[in-house]
Amino acid sequence: MVAIAYSVAFEGVEARLVEVQCSVAAGLPGFGIVGLPDKAVSEARERVKAAFGALSIALPNRRLTVNLSPADLPKEGSHFDLPIALAVLAALEIVPKEELARCVALGELALDGRLVPVAGALPAAMAAAEDDRALICPRDCGAEAAWVEAVPVLAPGNLREVVDHLTDRAPLARARPGLIEASPATNCLSEVKGQERAKRALEIAAAGRHHLLMVGPPGAGKSMLAARLPGIMPPLSPAEALETSMIHSLAGILDNGGILRHPPFCEPHHTASMPAIVGGGRSAKPGQISLAHNGVLFMDEFPEFPRPVLETLRQPI
Ligand SMILES: Nc1ncnc2c1ncn2[C@@H]1O[C@H](COP(=O)(O)OP(=O)(O)O)[C@@H](O)[C@H]1O
Ligand SMILES: [Mg+2]
Repeated sequence: MVAIAYSVAFEGVEARLVEVQCSVAAGLPGFGIVGLPDKAVSEARERVKAAFGALSIALPNRRLTVNLSPADLPKEGSHFDLPIALAVLAALEIVPKEELARCVALGELALDGRLVPVAGALPAAMAAAEDDRALICPRDCGAEAAWVEAVPVLAPGNLREVVDHLTDRAPLARARPGLIEASPATNCLSEVKGQERAKRALEIAAAGRHHLLMVGPPGAGKSMLAARLPGIMPPLSPAEALETSMIHSLAGILDNGGILRHPPFCEPHHTASMPAIVGGGRSAKPGQISLAHNGVLFMDEFPEFPRPVLETLRQPI
């Protein structure tokens, strides 16, 4: 008895479809997860068991095996909790397999069966759209994912609501896209007195999307001018907005499900670490360079940055 649920694994800003297979077989009772899970995915087992307990569903006295396929792709993050739980429920014939196969699911489970928001709902919705499937994600991620209009996005608050939806007992309504984030109160260029040439340079850089290096004595107004650059940049085009929001979604910093409409402004401190600026690290999160995509990356006190960080800027620039 094998049941399949679908989820995604993130590779950079791309979400790749992952098949979550569950088989129930005779043998020593147990619950194993294979397919290159990281620590957070392995721990899904405990959360899934507890959430089932909250729903008064008992695991059978048989051997449950969950495989995350493709098995050679590393799986990271707690968002596999929901698809694993659903695959198990389908294998136990509690939810219908055909219904489940039409969805991509992601979400972290709390021990009481609540769904906890996770990062990356927007790229996941794009992946679901490409594959012509619906998306099931935690309630707080629904507004963000619903920006991808091509997919029906369902945003339940807990595991019971998902089960009731899949068994047609209480179908869920489609989530609505979140409100557009109001533009941050930006400082105005008119506050800068004089400095006509510097202002002109700033305007040309904003219009032509050029890089800008400001050199001058302390107190000349360099930081002040740079902080006013986002204020004179045009709003993002819809394609740029989606692209930039996908990166912010992966980093889990998209507020209230709104997508970004204004160019982002990133100002890393010169003591920030290499992964913080360039991205990567153990859980491969986007760094400040990526977060500034289609916006402004402002490196104040530029010569103070460590040389290896400056060298990594060569390629993006
Ligand atoms: N052209 C200017 N118009 C208005 N205020 C200015 C101007 N130049 C400098 N200032 C004032 O001096 C302060 C210090 O400038 P700052 O931008 O920090 O200089 P820098 O980064 O070049 O060392 C600013 O916060 C601002 O109050
Ligand atoms: Mg300064």
